[in-house]
Amino acid sequence: MKRSIIVANWKMYISSIADAHILATTVRNNVVSMDKTEVIFCPPSIWLTEVKQIIGKSTKISLGGQNIFYEPDGAYTGEISPLMLKEIAEYVIIGHSERREHFGETNFDVNEKVLASLRAGIKPIVCVGERKKSGNLVQPIRELHEALNHVPKKYYQDIIVAYEPIWAISNGIKGDNASPDYVARVANKLREIVHTDTPILYGGSVNSKNAKGYAERPEIDGVLVGGASVRAAEFIKICQIFNESRGILGGAK
Ligand code: PGA
Repeated sequence: MKRSIIVANWKMYISSIADAHILATTVRNNVVSMDKTEVIFCPPSIWLTEVKQIIGKSTKISLGGQNIFYEPDGAYTGEISPLMLKEIAEYVIIGHSERREHFGETNFDVNEKVLASLRAGIKPIVCVGERKKSGNLVQPIRELHEALNHVPKKYYQDIIVAYEPIWAISNGIKGDNASPDYVARVANKLREIVHTDTPILYGGSVNSKNAKGYAERPEIDGVLVGGASVRAAEFIKICQIFNESRGILGGAK
């Protein structure tokens, strides 16, 4: 049975290192005993080293960056290369809709970053999703195809896909999250593009109230959590829900 994957995308939410330390330590202490989940902390780059130390030797928690540049080195002020990230982390989020919207990242950039991360030995968490709540999947399907341009199929199992409909992101507790049925259908469609073993996660206003719906669907391999990932108790509950549900699902996948 596959472990479910819970990505904690801290975005730029926490502004002090002391708070980052408390959050990472509290979550670590509560998830280390969960054997059916893998948690991936994605803190801002400036705290990767700190969080790495907190994770220590735990095999249940991994580290990911929130972004990389695609060149290996050079005169690129402010950027972090895949080779630098590889020294410390196993994963990197690529193509998040906030990067596409605020920093002008295109499908071409996303593809370059996916190729660069794989070349460096980092597993990319590729985000795709449609802007409007219309049920039209042209955008995520196209984003995924373009992200995988020139990627040899043998690498598809090293990629995680995060289906994140833009209309469902950052809606908070009263959130307009995508229904588990809908996400399961989309996951089946996206899986046709990748490998049957490529994990497909859902992201968009996941919290402890709606997590069970996703955890109970074998088509959904986990969640990418933004806002709720910086509230320790809330995030731990989400992890517990997945850990328990996967125990019940057993070998469903
Ligand atoms: P959210 O963010 O959980 O706050 O909606 C998810 C994401 O954008 O990664």
